[in-house]
Amino acid sequence: MDDSLLAEFLQLIRQQTGIAIRAQDTPQLVKKLLSRCRALEYRHPRQYLALLAHPASLAAQQEWQQLADLITTGESYFFRDQGQIKVLRETILPHLIGRHQGDRTLRILSAGCSTGEEIYSIAILLKELIPDPDRWQLHLVGYDLSPQAIAQARAGVYGRWSFRGMDLTLQRRYFQETPQGWVLNEELRQGVRFRCVNLLAQEEYDLLPASVDLIICRNVFIYFDSAAIQQILGTFVSLLRPHGYLLTGHTELQGQDISPLNILSYPESVVYQLGADPQPPSAATPPPTPPPVSALEEARAAFALRNYTQALTLAQQWQAHQPNDQACLLLMAQIYANQGRYTEAIALSQQLLQRDPANIDALLLLAHIAQEQQNKPLAKDYLRRVIFLSPNTIVAYVELIELHLSEQELDPVPSLLATAQLLLQNCPPDEIISFHQGITVTMLQQYLKQLTITPLAP
Ligand SMILES: C[S@@+](CC[C@H](N)C(=O)[O-])C[C@H]1O[C@@H](n2cnc3c(N)ncnc32)[C@H](O)[C@@H]1O
Repeated sequence: MDDSLLAEFLQLIRQQTGIAIRAQDTPQLVKKLLSRCRALEYRHPRQYLALLAHPASLAAQQEWQQLADLITTGESYFFRDQGQIKVLRETILPHLIGRHQGDRTLRILSAGCSTGEEIYSIAILLKELIPDPDRWQLHLVGYDLSPQAIAQARAGVYGRWSFRGMDLTLQRRYFQETPQGWVLNEELRQGVRFRCVNLLAQEEYDLLPASVDLIICRNVFIYFDSAAIQQILGTFVSLLRPHGYLLTGHTELQGQDISPLNILSYPESVVYQLGADPQPPSAATPPPTPPPVSALEEARAAFALRNYTQALTLAQQWQAHQPNDQACLLLMAQIYANQGRYTEAIALSQQLLQRDPANIDALLLLAHIAQEQQNKPLAKDYLRRVIFLSPNTIVAYVELIELHLSEQELDPVPSLLATAQLLLQNCPPDEIISFHQGITVTMLQQYLKQLTITPLAP
């Protein structure tokens, strides 16, 4: 595809969806566009451009849905960003619950909800916070451009990786483990409504003006250009009730005109509010931290229970006595990564690699962070380094396969798959592999089989 035609596609995608495809992602985009051309039996991509350029037609609308699945990045997980979850749990949601004791009605929108983890996390928080939830009318809504993501959100079945930010006790309380994955409790699933909506198209929203108490739109604007963000902000403002809140990803509104929203600053995150509240919510007094036992094992135990704040405090105390303990530094890097504090996690991992360039755990962590930051080429590099240095690391093969499939790069998959399967054959079936927080060899074999039959969405 020549540069000028590509530029026309990029412009059209940006205009239609707000998504500004990054220069490094254009080769993948071209592959995806060409695969759609083939599927539609077009001889030239210009025919495909012509179809997309008339979004009012039914055929174009159907095709935009297909394309949406290919150009969006739907990475999400429960209780993502512990800091923001803390602000929601301890401040914003209690404040909203208090404010609505009279009408017992709350309306919350997750805009760019992906596969549902974000709005279901809110549903769980509300269930934990409201003593008599049955007497409330909770209108929880998820909007996303991708039909595939919306279908998965409605199904409410999740793999282990979706729970990396969530407390194990909560996971067990609200989900049931099945061979297909962890299935969300029916009541919560029924309590959330999902719709395919393009956030740029105000006419697609089905919420009344001035009716929403809280809009959460995190990790969506990172893909948008400034004009699209500004346009969507205008829509959000019109949807918010007076004193309603907007929560975005950190720094996602930097440089934008946020008026008439006010900024509420908490140590963990900024929250935007429509109009000044006569009694702005102050953070609830944090629960007292139990006296720490300065042992690395205690920190590990807290980490396993996903109590990251406590794990970090304990690990830092240990490190003060044992500054060169590599295991402790790795644990701290893992804690930072799970808290979304990637800069600190990367710095510590690099420090570990300077001492030992073959530190496999540090390389795997860097690969995970790169994936989290949507830097798939870097993630692949780290995983290849792991395989080079430690060719029996099964998880590196599996993650590399997932990455290639998500980019529709099918060529490297068969040999990676064959090696992974061979390595798995040599393991006892019940052995736990540290993939997606622990999975047996048999389960991983089944997962690989299913993965290659139903390739991952990009
Ligand atoms: C990285 S996910 C974020 C998911 C979730 N908010 C979170 O932080 O975990 C970004 C989501 O935004 C959605 N998205 C991108 N452009 C959109 C648009 N114009 N309208 C609606 N959703 C959009 C994508 O489909 C994707 O599911």
